[in-house]
Amino acid sequence: MANHQIAVIVSSLRRDSFNRKMATALEKLAPPDFVFQHLDIGALPLYNQDDDSNPAESVKHLKSAILAAQGLLFVTPEYNRGIPGVLKNAIDHASRPYGQSVWAGKPAGILGVTPGTIGTALAQQQLRSVLAYLDVPILGQPEMYIQAKDGLFDNAGNIAEGSRKLFQSWMDQYAAWVKKHAA
Ligand SMILES: Cc1cc2nc3c(=O)[nH]c(=O)nc-3n(C[C@H](O)[C@H](O)[C@H](O)COP(=O)(O)O)c2cc1C
Repeated sequence: MANHQIAVIVSSLRRDSFNRKMATALEKLAPPDFVFQHLDIGALPLYNQDDDSNPAESVKHLKSAILAAQGLLFVTPEYNRGIPGVLKNAIDHASRPYGQSVWAGKPAGILGVTPGTIGTALAQQQLRSVLAYLDVPILGQPEMYIQAKDGLFDNAGNIAEGSRKLFQSWMDQYAAWVKKHAA
């Protein structure tokens, strides 16, 4: 059985990030042939078009990891009703030089968690807009606007029983989405 390599982009650099914790917990609900690789977007320089002809090693690494992946998983907080700058920086890096974007055609899923009541909805909508421009096919449903509340995770860091069905359903549909695009 061929593995499905998934590039995971968590756009919080915070040590105790809820979003990273959620990504890690979600991965445990994936089919056994799915392999997840977290991309280090915090080490990237700020994008500067002058560097297109001489990209940093971290940029080359980012682009080759995306190229090698069969799917993308974005897990993002919302910063001031938009996506964190660290994520937009990574997206811009991997979209350039002009004509050498590595995003096109990679099936993607998007989730986010916040203590706030709208569950990262505005950041996710902004991300959808940017990725659509880059020709990334994005799983439309189910949407996952998660509010961080006590009891979301169990003591072992898994998605707790009360939310497990919701996350399992999302993962099942995401996995089918990735496989459909790989076929
Ligand atoms: C600069 C900044 C802006 C924020 N703006 C929003 C926001 O627009 N909406 C929201 O729900 N939470 C907002 N928050 C709160 C974050 O959702 C919260 O810090 C969350 O824990 C960040 O995700 P993380 O735990 O993965 O780091 C903001 C936090 C920061 C640091």
